[in-house]
Amino acid sequence: MKFFVITIFPDIFNSFWEHGIIRKAIEEGIISYEAVDIRNFAEGKHHVTDDRPFGGGCGMVMKPEPITKAIRAVQEKASNSKIVFLSPKGKKFNQNIAKELSLNENLIFICGRYEGIDERVYTKFDGIDVSIGDYVLSGGEVAAMVIIDSIARLIPGALGCSESANQDSFSDYLMEYPHYTRPRIFEGEDVPEILLSGNHEKIEKWRYEASLMHTLLKRPDLLENKKLNLWEMEILEKWCKEIDRIIQAQSLHSSNSLSSCE
Ligand code: 6GU
Repeated sequence: MKFFVITIFPDIFNSFWEHGIIRKAIEEGIISYEAVDIRNFAEGKHHVTDDRPFGGGCGMVMKPEPITKAIRAVQEKASNSKIVFLSPKGKKFNQNIAKELSLNENLIFICGRYEGIDERVYTKFDGIDVSIGDYVLSGGEVAAMVIIDSIARLIPGALGCSESANQDSFSDYLMEYPHYTRPRIFEGEDVPEILLSGNHEKIEKWRYEASLMHTLLKRPDLLENKKLNLWEMEILEKWCKEIDRIIQAQSLHSSNSLSSCE
């Protein structure tokens, strides 16, 4: 997979390509990249890429010609490519979009700056608009890095342990289980006993249950969108009964009658 980023700040990405999983994947030929400077496609002595908005108002708008030329230049090099416009107005990025995008041969990211890009660029090219969340960034570059990072790790061979991507948070609407490493006791706190047992089946069950618990406590909305399997249903029912028992024990002590799980 080749990542193209069309930007007025190509150097922002320099360090990004040179570290961790991204760097390793580039070295191993699993991914490649090219940051394309929009200024190189801007006319005139000053290579101006922005201008005042028609209709007035604050801020500047990215001119359509340099971006259009830059996109066309990339498309000529990369025939099978998908365009991703980065914009706070776009569809909210998530793991499913990452998975879909990871199937492309080439991806072209268009990083907007200022108030945005001249609207006619969007109508000229068939692409998707993506946002990384409900907040405003100064430009699409940081968002492009977020998206490229999440896609690169999904490409077979990019991660050391082949199962890691499947076990990631959100890969199945569940948050990851907690991780521990040496020392066994850190500032008086021990690691969960079961992880030292060597019983892989029990460890797997414990991790699964911990994932479910973390998700329920921190992101219950994820569970609502998830198709629960029998095992997960059983675990949730077990907790429900446990909570019910606690509530029932309480109502024996007081006259308050509280509703139960059932
Ligand atoms: Cl993709 N771009 C900008 N400028 N702001 C954002 C964003 C993208 N996603 C969230 N906020």
